[in-house]
Amino acid sequence: MQLLLILVAFLLPPGAGAEEIVGGREARPHSHPYMAYLRIQSPGGGAACGGFLVREDFVMTAAHCLGSTIRVILGAHNISRQERTQQRIQVRRAIPHPRYRRQNLQNDIMLLQLENRATRNQFVRPVALPQSQAQLRPGSRCTVAGWGLVGQNRPTDTLRDVQLEVQRNQVCSNTFNVFNGQSQICVGNQRERKTAFRGDSGGPLVCNNVAQGIVSYGNGVGTPPEVFTKVSSYLPWISRTMRLFKTTRNQKRHHTTPPLMDSSSLEQS
Ligand SMILES: *[C@@H]1O[C@H](CO)[C@@H](O)[C@H](O)[C@H]1NC(C)=O
Repeated sequence: MQLLLILVAFLLPPGAGAEEIVGGREARPHSHPYMAYLRIQSPGGGAACGGFLVREDFVMTAAHCLGSTIRVILGAHNISRQERTQQRIQVRRAIPHPRYRRQNLQNDIMLLQLENRATRNQFVRPVALPQSQAQLRPGSRCTVAGWGLVGQNRPTDTLRDVQLEVQRNQVCSNTFNVFNGQSQICVGNQRERKTAFRGDSGGPLVCNNVAQGIVSYGNGVGTPPEVFTKVSSYLPWISRTMRLFKTTRNQKRHHTTPPLMDSSSLEQS
């Protein structure tokens, strides 16, 4: 029920009672060059999510951010401005995890193949993914960033970040009956009022410069703990998907190479 509440709220227009990253601060501009701002259009209205660049042609986010069209802005700090550092790129193909379940938010991970490759520079750069299934220790300090909505009536237009502490799985099992420690990370000390919140969905949990988690769900009122998708549980699916779909620099000219497969079945709407 609590999960449902946060999802419904996510679909509401800005101003319908959402908050910013709780307990955070404005990020130093471009200190998270992998961050992507996602503008999502769906039949029910517009929404925003976070995401992160994992290769020049792929952004990772949460599967619950899926919409009929998604536009990606890289290199942004203030998303109300047309900053010269920004790269706005259409999504060619949205690939939610095939076993994503909306009802309990299992496998809440999605890859977005970009229409064009991003240009790598000091403002736009991919973040590293974990190399193995190694466990994140409880007590590890990680950072989450996002453009989650601010207070009563307006979205924040600048990127904010906050440091959060990884918790024992038990803390989230006690709070969320659908928590799954195999594929999810429990984050946020209950004694600190710091957490990601509505509109931050899809953003990365970065620990020692590695994207270990994806903002997935919380209790709907903006208090810790909160659940992140555990990226290291999906490494085979991630590498298979990114190998299958490659965005070459001038793809339209390469008629001699037939596509590996018809990907339309993977495309959502
Ligand atoms: C972001 O840019 C807009 C438009 O220029 C401006 O009105 C707003 O104050 C900026 N936000 C911050 C926090 O600087």
